[in-house]
Amino acid sequence: MRKFIIDTDTASDDAVALVMALRHPEIDVRAITVVGGNVPLPQAVQNALYTVELCGASAPVYAGCAKPLLRDLETAEDVHGNDGMGDIGLPLSGRAQADGHAADALRRVINDNAGDITLVTLGPLTNVALALLREPALAQRVSHCYIMGGIGSGHGNITPTAEFNIWVDPEAAKIVYESGLDITMVGWDISWKYATFDAEQAADIRNVGTALAEFVVDIQATLTEFSKTENALPGFDLPDPITMAAALDRDICKYEKRHVEVMTGAGLARGITVVDWLGVTGRAPNIHVATSADRAAFVQLLKQSVS
Ligand code: RIB
Ligand code: CA
Repeated sequence: MRKFIIDTDTASDDAVALVMALRHPEIDVRAITVVGGNVPLPQAVQNALYTVELCGASAPVYAGCAKPLLRDLETAEDVHGNDGMGDIGLPLSGRAQADGHAADALRRVINDNAGDITLVTLGPLTNVALALLREPALAQRVSHCYIMGGIGSGHGNITPTAEFNIWVDPEAAKIVYESGLDITMVGWDISWKYATFDAEQAADIRNVGTALAEFVVDIQATLTEFSKTENALPGFDLPDPITMAAALDRDICKYEKRHVEVMTGAGLARGITVVDWLGVTGRAPNIHVATSADRAAFVQLLKQSVS
């Protein structure tokens, strides 16, 4: 069994990534830590708790930071729905989170499994940054950290230059990227290039025919409309799930290690992940940047998780 800890701002694509990990026979999800992002923290916590229950799993869910380190929280209900899960009427309330703060849970789980724990982050990096500020040595105790965030090359989704998770809390992202963690970054470019589902491709997943197969597609209702009208995509895309797929089977993507700097400015300078592709800065590469993905292998892994 491989041990995972997953940090998430649980909305409709996060939930699919959680299903992929929770239902994987070789993965032991030690904890799920939640951060404000797509939706406010309380809703993200309930969405994570609902998903764990739906999977018949028992991973504890911890509430973490409700807002970025230095900035106001910017949410994305227009992207994922007011409840974050497509506003399809799911009962997303009344479940009990675990006691304690997510940053403390991150520290405890990483220290208890030093050298044998994979960290997967699916939202803004506020919780992870806080844990690292409290205990910098955590960076050396995480086997590998997979981050859904930033852009390897190409345009952004929240601004022309930035991806949502990094843009929401750029200061946290800078702390994490410069922490010494062994990081793989799966940018939003990988999602829209290899993990977009038009109506036919979505039906192919849903037609696996289980309750989970219907869940992972139906909760994308809001994201489908947003993706088509705002992101010029043929249907919903799944950034968190393709990042989770890389964590589950590293060969699903290809990577180049480069120096990546996070910009913490304002306006279009906010949240840019500047990848030094040509090495012109002379700075040591610090991030494995995903450059492509095997879509067929990703879809197969996704189907297996809901079968
Ligand atoms: O930019 C895409 C990312 O922002 C995904 O993690 C999505 O869930 C949102 O958090
Ligand atoms: Ca997310």
